[in-house]
Amino acid sequence: MAKKIPLQPEDFELETNTVWAFPNRGKWATHDAKYRGNWSPYIPRNVILRYSVEGDTVLDQFVGGGTTAVEAKLTNRNFIGIDINPDALKITKSKLDFECEFNTSIDIMQGDARSLSTIADGSIDLICTHPPYADIIHYSENIDGDLSLMPMKEYLFEIGKVAEECYRVLKKDKFCAILMGDTRKKGMVQPLAFETMRIFEMAGFKTKEIIIKEQHNCKATGYWKTNSIKFNFLLLAHEYLFVFRK
Ligand SMILES: C[S@@+](CC[C@H](N)C(=O)[O-])C[C@H]1O[C@@H](n2cnc3c(N)ncnc32)[C@H](O)[C@@H]1O
Repeated sequence: MAKKIPLQPEDFELETNTVWAFPNRGKWATHDAKYRGNWSPYIPRNVILRYSVEGDTVLDQFVGGGTTAVEAKLTNRNFIGIDINPDALKITKSKLDFECEFNTSIDIMQGDARSLSTIADGSIDLICTHPPYADIIHYSENIDGDLSLMPMKEYLFEIGKVAEECYRVLKKDKFCAILMGDTRKKGMVQPLAFETMRIFEMAGFKTKEIIIKEQHNCKATGYWKTNSIKFNFLLLAHEYLFVFRK
C-alpha cells in the first residue's frame, strides 16, 4: 500500500548555521517539484518559523507555484501571494486546496512586485520571496513586466523598484528574505546575488544574514561536466538567501 503523504514534515529541525542543504527537497502536504525552479519548502518553513509568529502576515510577491503560500497556511500565518503570471496563480490556488487545522486569511492575486499598489505602507510582518534570476529561466513568453525576460542590466534596475516596495510595505524592524543565484557569461561569473544585496541595502535595508543554499539539482555529469573541464570553469552549485531587516 502506498505511504500516505503527511501534512507536516516529519522530524523537522530549524537550520542553525549559514549553510543550508536539502538533498531531499521535501514532500509533505501538496508540495512537488513541478513548477520550474520552485524552492524547497524547507526554505520558507525555516524563514517563516524564525522570523514571524502565528497570526502574522507573510508576503511572497513572486509566489510562482505557491510553495511559500502552502507553508504559511501550515504554520498559521496570514498570507498575500502575488505573481505577474496568471498561470502561476492557478497553480498556487490548486496547491492551497487542502484542509488543515488553521483558518488563516490567504489572498492570491495578480500583480507586479515593482508596484504593490494594493498593499498599505508598513502592513507586512515578513517578506519571504524568490524572484527569477534575471533571464536564466523564462516564466512567460511575453508578459509585460515579467522580470524573467530581462537581461541582467535591465533586471538589476527593475529589482531596485522591487527593493523599494519591499521596504515600503514592511513593518519597521521586520525581516525580508530573498533567495537569489548567480549566472555565468563567457566563462565569467556574474554576481547577480551580491548586486541584488547591495540594491536592497541602498533601498534602506540592513543585511542580517547571508546564507549559502546548496543546489542539489545541478547536472554535474555529461555535457556540463565535460564542458566545465574543457573550458575550465566551476559549475555554480549554490544560491544565496539574504535576510534583510528594515
Ligand atoms: C523563481 S519563481 C518563484 C517560485 C516559487 N518560489 C515556488 O516555489 O513556486 C519566480 C516567479 O516570479 C514571477 N514574476 C516575474 N516577474 C514578476 C513581477 N514583475 N512581479 C511579480 N511576479 C513576477 C514569475 O512569473 C515566477 O512565477
